[in-house]
Amino acid sequence: MAESNQFFLTSPLYYVNASPHMGSVYTTMICDTLCRFWDMYGLQVTFTTGVDEHGGKIEKTAQANNVPAQTHCDLVSDEFIQLWESLNINYTHFSRTTSNHHKRFVRTFWEVVKAKGDIYEAEYEGLYCIDCEDFKNIRDLEEGNVCPLHKKPVSVYKEKNYFFRLSKYAEQIKDFLHGNPEFLKPQYRMGEVNSWIESGLKDFPISRSSVAWGIPVPDDASQTIYVWFDALLGYLSPLVADPTSLDELSDFVGYSHIVGKDILRFHAVYWIGMLLSAGIPLPQHVFGHGFLTKDGQKMGKSLGNVLCPYELVSKFGLDAVRFYFMFQIPFGADGDYSESVFIETVNSYLANRLGNLCSRVLKMFFKNMNGMIPEYIDLVSSTSKIRDISIKAPEQVAECMKKFEVHNALAQIFEVVDALNMQLSDTKPWNLFKEDSVDSQKQAECIIVETLESLRIIASLLNPFMPDISAKMLNIFSLKNPQDWNDMSTWGLLGNCSINNISEALFQRISTDTIAN
Ligand code: MSP
Repeated sequence: MAESNQFFLTSPLYYVNASPHMGSVYTTMICDTLCRFWDMYGLQVTFTTGVDEHGGKIEKTAQANNVPAQTHCDLVSDEFIQLWESLNINYTHFSRTTSNHHKRFVRTFWEVVKAKGDIYEAEYEGLYCIDCEDFKNIRDLEEGNVCPLHKKPVSVYKEKNYFFRLSKYAEQIKDFLHGNPEFLKPQYRMGEVNSWIESGLKDFPISRSSVAWGIPVPDDASQTIYVWFDALLGYLSPLVADPTSLDELSDFVGYSHIVGKDILRFHAVYWIGMLLSAGIPLPQHVFGHGFLTKDGQKMGKSLGNVLCPYELVSKFGLDAVRFYFMFQIPFGADGDYSESVFIETVNSYLANRLGNLCSRVLKMFFKNMNGMIPEYIDLVSSTSKIRDISIKAPEQVAECMKKFEVHNALAQIFEVVDALNMQLSDTKPWNLFKEDSVDSQKQAECIIVETLESLRIIASLLNPFMPDISAKMLNIFSLKNPQDWNDMSTWGLLGNCSINNISEALFQRISTDTIAN
């Protein structure tokens, strides 16, 4: 990413066994923010999200709903598309693993890997969690052979399957992971990856004979391709024009995946093996984030304890939801949702610190200064602490975003907001305006102009995180879009903007009484 002007990011491809919930929204929202940020920075951005539609879990759900599997997939895929639309998620590709284009690509990939000698037939006997769509070791299960993630007993299965020769790539995978300390993020996830490596990277089945809902194995229609072998390829299939060849991907570099920690092994180990076998360049980063929990338990469709994104957004507004989940939970760690903390956080940061700041400053600018920047003020050559921290903020935010630390990026922006509030409460321009002396008037005017100049930068910087609040702030400066990246670290451009007094609050304080009812 650093060397090229391209930024490729993927969210996971969500299972369509049930409607999307806040856990699926969480990752997608953060991917959307990262992509909006790098776009604003000037990179060419490609964001692939989508759905994972095959496998036994979806087959069973469709049967239980008494609808053909494809109809079920179409319905739930549409729910994802509609939700992404209502959440204003800006994606480039919506990958569907039941599309003909994808199916052709998967068959091509299979043939290439088979031609490499990396696919063979053998008997599989083991434990399987259908909710994870993953093979399990007995040592990883809870009492009664229960999957610790889904709290349901796993099943035993024995079949003749096609296997992928992962063991052939074990050394290469190990060398890659150890030789690229920046690959896996956050770095503390490496411990877990090391334990998988130490327990041995064994060949694994990549087909099923007892699952009909899948892509048939080329030349053997009695088997379907294992859902993970199929789904991971959904990251790449939308990028190629010709699905019958992998050639277009031979120099595809600098792409990153954001996934939950439960599916890290597929991305940090299996996927790397698959790509090595097919000769496709490896991803630059895999980021394994934590879980949203409710009452301490992973929020999930199988557990039935999910937060509904539509409800949250209609209750609190989209930007408040974006802000809370990105700011309050350090990206990577687990985070518990609590309504009281939510309200406290967004009121404190969005209504008080940011909203009040804008309204106080605008009020003084229009009341005491007639909405005009006095000619004697020379912002361009002025020096101050506020100037220093404001023009440094964009690069500091970019540094955090390079590390996928969206929470720290927001914290950087709010450090500037806090400094502006501190300056106002220390200097009290509302009192200075009341004094008779010209010097006091001028001092107050300089503080207001400086604050507005800093808010001009903040208005753009906040755009990827909270597009609506940012749009309202940009409107103060008669801007329709965030400014060019270079203008965000250039002091003194306020004079080019015509400044509007916005009457609507930037963020409407949430009343706890309203919510309780
Ligand atoms: N279909 C696979 C991914 C294939 S990617 C080629 C899958 N789907 S999923 O719908 O079960 O999960 C998708 C993502 O949502 C995973 O990254 C998972 O970690 C994430 N989340 C599911 N529940 C979550 C929370 N409660 N909190 C945060 N993320 C959660 O796995």
